[in-house]
Amino acid sequence: PKRALVDRYGRTISYLRVSVTDRCDFRCVYCMSEHMTFLPKKDVLSFEEIDTIVAAFVARGVRKVRLTGGEPLVRRDIMALVDKLGGYIGADGLQELTLTTNGSQLSRYAEGLHRAGVRRINVSLDTLDPERFAAITRRGRMEDVLEGLQAAGAAGIAIKINMVAMRGVNDDEIEPMLHWAHSRGYGLTLIEGMPLGEVGVDRVDQYLPLKELRDRLAARYTLTKLDQTTGGPARYVRVEETGGVLGFITPMSHNFCESCNRVRLTATGQLFMCLGQEDMVDLRLALREGGPEALDTALDRAMLLKPKGHDFVLDRAHGEPALKRHMSVTGG
Ligand code: GTP
Ligand code: 5AD
Ligand code: SF4
Repeated sequence: PKRALVDRYGRTISYLRVSVTDRCDFRCVYCMSEHMTFLPKKDVLSFEEIDTIVAAFVARGVRKVRLTGGEPLVRRDIMALVDKLGGYIGADGLQELTLTTNGSQLSRYAEGLHRAGVRRINVSLDTLDPERFAAITRRGRMEDVLEGLQAAGAAGIAIKINMVAMRGVNDDEIEPMLHWAHSRGYGLTLIEGMPLGEVGVDRVDQYLPLKELRDRLAARYTLTKLDQTTGGPARYVRVEETGGVLGFITPMSHNFCESCNRVRLTATGQLFMCLGQEDMVDLRLALREGGPEALDTALDRAMLLKPKGHDFVLDRAHGEPALKRHMSVTGG
């Protein structure tokens, strides 16, 4: 077997996030601005290129691939890619092929995803109120997402809900969401908003440290710390009263970078070594100019670039956003 991907800080890269498109049918207020300019389609990697890149990572020890976006399920013919990547699941290949989706197209794709080997997905849902949902996503319909969740559950796919906690927006819905999710057998993960890209709302006002929510929940529920992880940044507890799992992703208040195992491929083939830094290697260029061998060398080069951690700051004095790049480019 080929050498594992290990960076300068001794961290082994086993998780690749692949943004298959920067486009989305929603415009969530913490993610995008109302008017977005998307990448020209000609610059976007072909499925063949994505496949070659994923294969190179699998050969170097990557065991988990997550498709992201934008919204992965709005890319045309996406199932052709999922089917192809599903072929890497196996003993010396992927342990998990999964995706993070807004759920709008799930009812259409749920069965196909399961057939391709997807056993677990993360679905973004920040509110259970249809009007709030429309306000947060700017153009989504909550009905579609609820139908999508139903379909995914029926197809045998485990579901985790991602909820970005925003002060004054949905902070009164944490407990209702917890009960709603756990009563359906879904996990719930709360996320601190990160300052990526200009979105046209004040993130400093909306920022809600999860420590505050955790204390609030701990006063009402019995939270038992779990050691198990999903190989991502979330830290989990079991809520004894509901029997469900609750995760916390706290990039702003608590840095989880020491144990980072991830890199992210953009829709145009740049490999970003950190969500919150500019360091990257152009894999599309390597592939187009030098073929698979050059690609493999580029992965070694990339490992030398992985920074120790992000340096997001959310502070008026620093101005914002911390990074011009929207999360939909790097795929979260
Ligand atoms: P699991 O496999 O379920 O653990 O998923 P995940 O948390 O790795 O992926 P998901 O796409 O659901 O991401 C949830 C949130 O975590 C998003 O807001 C991501 O931007 C954020 N996130 C994931 N990885 C990183 C990371 O390395 N750094 C930072 N700052 N945020 C991350
Ligand atoms: N900060 C935190 N989470 C974000 N997401 C999108 N933009 C941001 C942001 N600025 C979340 C989405 C989705 C996941 C991929 O990232 O809600 O669940
Ligand atoms: Fe689309 Fe997800 Fe961004 Fe919302 S958070 S606009 S659903 S990519």
